[in-house]
Amino acid sequence: MAAAPHGGLVEIRGVHKSFGELEVLRGIDLRITPGSVTVILGPSGSGKSTLLRTINHLEPVTRGLISVDGDVIGYRRDGDLLHELHEREVLRQRTAIGMVFQGFNLFAHMTALGNITEAPRRALGVPRREAEARARELLDLVGLSDKEQVYPRQLSGGQQQRVAIARALALEPKVLLFDEPTSALDPELVEEVLAVIRSLARAGTTLVIVTHEIPFARDVADTVVFMDHGRIIEQGPPAEVLDAPRHERTRSFLATVRTGEQSSSAEGQVPAAER
Ligand SMILES: Nc1ncnc2c1ncn2[C@@H]1O[C@H](COP(=O)(O)OP(=O)(O)OP(=O)(O)O)[C@@H](O)[C@H]1O
Ligand SMILES: [Mg+2]
Repeated sequence: MAAAPHGGLVEIRGVHKSFGELEVLRGIDLRITPGSVTVILGPSGSGKSTLLRTINHLEPVTRGLISVDGDVIGYRRDGDLLHELHEREVLRQRTAIGMVFQGFNLFAHMTALGNITEAPRRALGVPRREAEARARELLDLVGLSDKEQVYPRQLSGGQQQRVAIARALALEPKVLLFDEPTSALDPELVEEVLAVIRSLARAGTTLVIVTHEIPFARDVADTVVFMDHGRIIEQGPPAEVLDAPRHERTRSFLATVRTGEQSSSAEGQVPAAER
């Protein structure tokens, strides 16, 4: 295996994001420590996906700053001045910040191995053999060693999502962002993907995960962040935010999520001390 990945420090300061008149992020401050796992919860439209997308500069912020290990995303620091980076430099910066989406987004015409080697070869110029050797390690990590020559259409949703995770890991990101990685999956396939994410949580990469899987959040998160209307309403360890939320909005959101998922409503009763 390559050296253990080094988790990045993500600092989000005073971030606002508007789409025209609509202010979607309304002053986000969040410090995400290296190697930690942060789960972001919140109602639909609260800005969770937008926040993830600003972290890797898929969406430029309207105001505020985001940095990873001190490098301001989308900008180059020059004393007190910030210069906007060119697209090519943004692409390079983005290789340090992986993203896994709800809908896998694999290249349909490439095998599992091809999907995983594409970005390292193109973006980082890694030689083919080296990229393939690393891709095989990653397929092994996500439990798909036997699928390297298989095309996405021949894989289940859970398997496709695991290939997508391996593909994100191939760039050895400092930070890995997950936007509802299991919400497009049939219920019986959710756990296999969560298991892979759990194993990453112990491997040192900084993880930021938007999910509605409350038992999973309780299990894996160091910090749970609850967002509503573009603001962070509360944040803290799962034992606080999930089991003893201070804010009414957090409480009512959790009640909705739990009644929507029978299995998690039972598990939701497990006291934090038993984790
Ligand atoms: N590119 C865009 N242009 C205009 N409005 C946008 C754009 N992207 C998101 N929005 C709006 O920003 C708000 C927040 O969207 P976002 O996708 O971040 O919410 P979310 O918390 O991820 O919701 P969900 O749980 O449904 O995924 C929504 O009102 C959405 O319509
Ligand atoms: Mg979303």
